[in-house]
Amino acid sequence: MKIPYYISFVLILFTVAINAFNVTISDRDMNNYLEVENIERNIKFNGERLLDVYYDKNTLKQKKHVVIHIFGSYWIKGDKIGQTKIGSLLEREGYVAVVPNYVLFPNGTVEDMVDDIYNAIQWTYKNISKYGGNPKKIYICAHSSGAHIAALTIIKSALNLENNGVKLEPLPKLRRVILLNGPYSFDAEFLTYTLQGSGNTSNVAITSNVEEQLLLQKLMMTYYNDKSISPIELLKECEKNSSKLNVNKFVFFYTADDNVIPESSSKGLISEIMRTSSSSFEYIYEEGLGHATVTDGVKAGLSEYEEWYMDLIHS
Ligand SMILES: *[C@@H]1O[C@H](CO)[C@@H](O)[C@H](O)[C@H]1NC(C)=O
Ligand SMILES: *[C@@H]1O[C@H](CO)[C@@H](O)[C@H](O)[C@H]1NC(C)=O
Ligand SMILES: *[C@@H]1O[C@H](CO)[C@@H](O)[C@H](O)[C@H]1NC(C)=O
Ligand SMILES: *[C@@H]1O[C@H](CO)[C@@H](O)[C@H](O)[C@H]1NC(C)=O
Repeated sequence: MKIPYYISFVLILFTVAINAFNVTISDRDMNNYLEVENIERNIKFNGERLLDVYYDKNTLKQKKHVVIHIFGSYWIKGDKIGQTKIGSLLEREGYVAVVPNYVLFPNGTVEDMVDDIYNAIQWTYKNISKYGGNPKKIYICAHSSGAHIAALTIIKSALNLENNGVKLEPLPKLRRVILLNGPYSFDAEFLTYTLQGSGNTSNVAITSNVEEQLLLQKLMMTYYNDKSISPIELLKECEKNSSKLNVNKFVFFYTADDNVIPESSSKGLISEIMRTSSSSFEYIYEEGLGHATVTDGVKAGLSEYEEWYMDLIHS
């Protein structure tokens, strides 16, 4: 793969052996997690992989709408334990929420992540009625790298593509897929933007943690221009109106002050979905918010952002 010189220059600086590191969970996140009552924790869904279900034991007969929330954290970190505020918000608002973990880089490849999310969706379809959820009313809400993995999973399975050597079967019908600030192509534009920010060099690192920076660089070198992990490139291979994505509606959300992911990523995927499928879509572009303002705001318990998040679910 040919990496443009200005990117390889930055990457070479970071080409060092990297060891896997442990996910650290803050005390605040752990306390929030342990305080929740309306939850079933640590359900195995794909081998040893775990998910949590936020639900109300007193309303099991209601057949509520179900939201699978897929967190983002640059493919290299994050844990369902940090998503408690989001799971609880959805549960309070009358949904059943499913929050899966998925394998992270470099412990797993992007195909392994797709395998986890694919199985999390199948698990939800088969099991969620026991928790008062309606398997015919499944929503996915996914942020950043989580939005990338969610879109890739939906598109690969709709196109019957191989993942880890196995052809994915079509997923059950999804009522809404809400994709927040996601990257959908690992091309030069994305890498330049991610490494340099939107013309803002104070953004180069994304994270100030050196170990995380190294992992991110390694990930980017591994997947640079790899079409098999780009939802946009996979759809480009399809004829007009030929992909049956089995999604009633896509909602794309992008924020003007996102200096991690360029807007062209969302726009590129929207135009390929429009060209190849009959799913409807909505594009919501918001001024004055950054890459993770809404999800971070919900995690901080700020009601303003809880409203934002729920508006996106209802959109
Ligand atoms: C990678 O796997 C090891 C061993 O299972 C685990 O301890 C570590 O937390 C994992 N790292 C990440 C980033 O998930
Ligand atoms: C989920 O559904 C599958 C298939 O019906 C079943 O084998 C599995 O035991 C269920 N898991 C739980 C936790 O109920
Ligand atoms: C660059 O980012 C920093 C931190 O996010 C911000 O304070 C500053 O205003 C930005 N500068 C420009 C030129 O966008
Ligand atoms: C694709 O579908 C749209 C709307 O369903 C329709 O208007 C258009 O004619 C179709 N194009 C082709 C090439 O079939």
